Amino acid sequence: MNDRRPELTLRFLAQPTDVNFGGKVHGGAVMKWIDQAAYAAAVEWSGAYCVTVALSGLSFIAPVRIGDLVSVAVRLISTGRSSMQFAVEVRARDLQNGVERLATRCVIVFVALDAPDGKPVEVQGWQPQSARDRQLAACAGELARLSKAMEEAMQPD
Ligand SMILES: CC(C)(COP(=O)(O)OP(=O)(O)OC[C@H]1O[C@@H](n2cnc3c(N)ncnc32)[C@H](O)[C@@H]1OP(=O)(O)O)[C@@H](O)C(=O)NCCC(=O)NCCS
Repeated sequence: MNDRRPELTLRFLAQPTDVNFGGKVHGGAVMKWIDQAAYAAAVEWSGAYCVTVALSGLSFIAPVRIGDLVSVAVRLISTGRSSMQFAVEVRARDLQNGVERLATRCVIVFVALDAPDGKPVEVQGWQPQSARDRQLAACAGELARLSKAMEEAMQPD
């Protein structure tokens, strides 16, 4: 029996090696955690090797401090033929005082590839269950449309 879950959370400890020039966690380290968590969710949902194809709506809302416990919550919000869009929320928890805050949000897209030649392969479709799911799925469609329009607008003349 396949029990493919549309949600997954990974946790990381922000370490001194993740520091930026301002003494907080480097944005690149946060992006790496997002990519790792969404990769795990994409592979679990599709049952295939997956690659990142797009990242949008990335907002760094609050800094992550060294020593924080970082939770990266990934939630499937839309599927295409081979693509999967995930909404991601990164929360940072100060372990000394227990205060948690929203640090980063984004939407990330993965594509499932088949093993022998790395061609996009069909993924199981995901159906929104709740009103919030339907709202997120509608926004995901709009975001994909806008991203495509932006790509076209950025083509050199
Ligand atoms: C993923 C990849 C194999 C797709 O190849 P392709 O020739 O564009 O294949 P397709 O045109 O059939 O697109 C496959 C899917 O990706 C989606 N896609 C491709 N580029 C996209 C983008 N920029 N944003 C959102 N979705 C995108 C397509 O919409 C399609 O979705 P669907 O199957 O659900 O309809 C190719 O783009 C690639 O190798 N990209 C590099 C991936 C990578 O190196 N990632 C970083 C390291 S993991």
